[in-house]
Amino acid sequence: MPDPLKWTRRAVLRLAWGGIIAAGALTIEPLVKYLTSQEDHRQSPLVVYNKLLNQNSDWQDASKARVWVKRDSLGVMALVATCTHLGCEVNYHPEKKEWLCPCHGSVYDVEGRPISGPAPKTLPRVAVELQADGSLMINTAKQVGMEFRG
Ligand code: FES
Repeated sequence: MPDPLKWTRRAVLRLAWGGIIAAGALTIEPLVKYLTSQEDHRQSPLVVYNKLLNQNSDWQDASKARVWVKRDSLGVMALVATCTHLGCEVNYHPEKKEWLCPCHGSVYDVEGRPISGPAPKTLPRVAVELQADGSLMINTAKQVGMEFRG
């Protein structure tokens, strides 16, 4: 480090360049981590359900994305088990044929229509398509009406 009493233009420039290089070196590692991180990447809205779904089946849990599937005589359907009150995950109780929300007690019927509690709307349905191999392709980003069958 130069003597403060002998600050020359060259000494100031060397010190400035050293600071710039040090700042660059400290920035590289976090920048590389940020650019290679998978955390910020959006998850695909597509969910595949590979198990056999019998006709007139009850609701089956299709994924960790709160998606449930069911098949009736008209086709397949998919429901997202997220409470329409404040977004808690609702649980299906096959013995009661009801969906129950553990947060504030909303109860939905088997088709996801609210029957008691603060939930204002029906559980969301999303698009589902029966593939040639028998699996289901569910698009959680595409909401559909209750009458929709894939
Ligand atoms: S979040 Fe389900 S009842 Fe409030």
